[in-house]
Amino acid sequence: MQNKLAENIAETILKKAKVCPQLGLVLGSGWGGIVNALTDKCVIPYSELSGMPQCGVKGHAGNFVIGTIGGKVVVIIQGRFHLYEGRRMEEVLMPLNVLYSLGVRNVILTNAAGGVNEKYRVGDIMILKDHINFTCKNPLIGVQPSEEFPVFVDMSEVYDPVFRKKILNACIELNVPCHEGVYMQLLGPTFETPAEIRAFRNWGVDAVGMSTVVEAIYARYLKMRVAAISCITNKAAGMDINPIKHEDVLLQSEKEGVFLEKLMKKIIATI
Ligand code: HPA
Repeated sequence: MQNKLAENIAETILKKAKVCPQLGLVLGSGWGGIVNALTDKCVIPYSELSGMPQCGVKGHAGNFVIGTIGGKVVVIIQGRFHLYEGRRMEEVLMPLNVLYSLGVRNVILTNAAGGVNEKYRVGDIMILKDHINFTCKNPLIGVQPSEEFPVFVDMSEVYDPVFRKKILNACIELNVPCHEGVYMQLLGPTFETPAEIRAFRNWGVDAVGMSTVVEAIYARYLKMRVAAISCITNKAAGMDINPIKHEDVLLQSEKEGVFLEKLMKKIIATI
């Protein structure tokens, strides 16, 4: 895999941070608190990195944050790119390419998701054990295959079983309601219809969202070890008397912030 742009960005980051990260975190809604827990922090805005896609939404952080937590050097992607913004797949994948160029081979993806499984409650955690890519866009289309990086990547175990077990143990230790389930990524930006959710439930989907899967596929192509965690911020469409509102999803994810920070600290310490 060679991505000159990502290599240049990584070089600039390493010059500023002066440490090599061992673990990459991609933060979804609600998961931002972990940034406050880092020590010896170096914040590098995307705007200082030539070739890095920029965050369009004002007030939305677009930073690489490097720091230490529990004796580990981590790099945090604060501000991922989504297909629903009209981003090109290369933009969505750029953070992963930069992580790879930084030498990171272990990555944790996080998100906020709607609970499809009737047993799931708002505030629960779901560790991804598998996924369905319902964006119908494969991130490896058009990628030039090489001997080291073939594009016919096995997808039978995307989410690392050792990471999954460690995250599950962290949840149990913290007494956090936790499931292992199947996540479906949709394009968005609309939420789903109740009929779609009923169909997806029949397919074995436990939670839905608008990120993570294409990143996980790409990370596996890069031979990274991947874990992904959802915070259930709402019941999926048709499962609650109230309609789903983006503001409510954000409010709920913020409400979970302190607890998600605590959980992530524990996960990093054990991983
Ligand atoms: N659907 C899709 N994406 C989401 C949801 C949902 O219900 N909740 C949070 N992200």
